[in-house]
Amino acid sequence: MKPFSSSTQAIPQVGDVPQHLAIIMDGNGRWARRRFLPRVAGHKRGLEAVRATVRACIERGISYLTLFAFSSENWRRPEEEVSFLMTLFIAALEAEMGKLHDNGVRLRVIGDRSRFEPRLIELIRQSEELTAPNTRLTLTIAANYGGRWDVMQAANRMVCQDPGKLGHYDETDVAPYLAMAYAPEPDLFIRTGGEQRISNFLIWQLAYCELFFTELLWPEFDAEALEVAIASYRKRERRFGRTSEQLVEQRRSTAVPCTEPVAQSQDA
Ligand code: IPE
Ligand code: IPE
Ligand code: MG
Repeated sequence: MKPFSSSTQAIPQVGDVPQHLAIIMDGNGRWARRRFLPRVAGHKRGLEAVRATVRACIERGISYLTLFAFSSENWRRPEEEVSFLMTLFIAALEAEMGKLHDNGVRLRVIGDRSRFEPRLIELIRQSEELTAPNTRLTLTIAANYGGRWDVMQAANRMVCQDPGKLGHYDETDVAPYLAMAYAPEPDLFIRTGGEQRISNFLIWQLAYCELFFTELLWPEFDAEALEVAIASYRKRERRFGRTSEQLVEQRRSTAVPCTEPVAQSQDA
């Protein structure tokens, strides 16, 4: 597999629509509490927003969607809530695996699976295997995922693979071992729920990502909200360290000259 280029090693191609969208789906608990419902009702409702977002990404031509579903720190929550989330994950995989496959979605799960119950581990394996050949959208679920965990597991695997290079590794050595080496770096990051923090999500991969924060709670997020985020993304000037003037010059030098033939006059 050819590695994707790194935003710190080469200047990425930038399109009008993000190729890779990464989302922290936050605010389920507050959504439920505002309705005097138990927090878990918000998680259930959050699944509807996941379905709507997957559909919207397919329609929008986004190739990679990565959703933060459960962080390595979320085990600190009350046991009943953690257990509900695990059960919901199992039920969602059972219900959606076939539909995702029919819609050309490739499913990947990143994070440390070792703490999951065997039934969940097996379902993840089956879903990934079934959907592996699909190319329309790669949907990644980050579950028991932490950015620091990711960097450390990659570093450990890198050293085991090539111990002779100790003291001389560079970022291109570690990149292939990161959990999402199969995807380009995210172009757009969205966090719902009003907080403006990364909460140990993709700390390596967000190096040059455009960040968008919204007060909307995750169960309220839909195709229209996605449009608002993409509209904001379009207005950004992604400089990757360069100056505005350099970007203007680059646009000028790569502009396609008009080559339309001049119409001949009939009576000439
Ligand atoms: C995000 O919603 C879902 C998970 C972290 C699993 P929260 O459950 O964090 O909702 P708030 O932030 O408490 O409202
Ligand atoms: C981040 O949300 C993790 C997920 C959405 C899965 P949290 O609600 O756990 O984040 P903090 O604790 O407010 O930073
Ligand atoms: Mg939260």
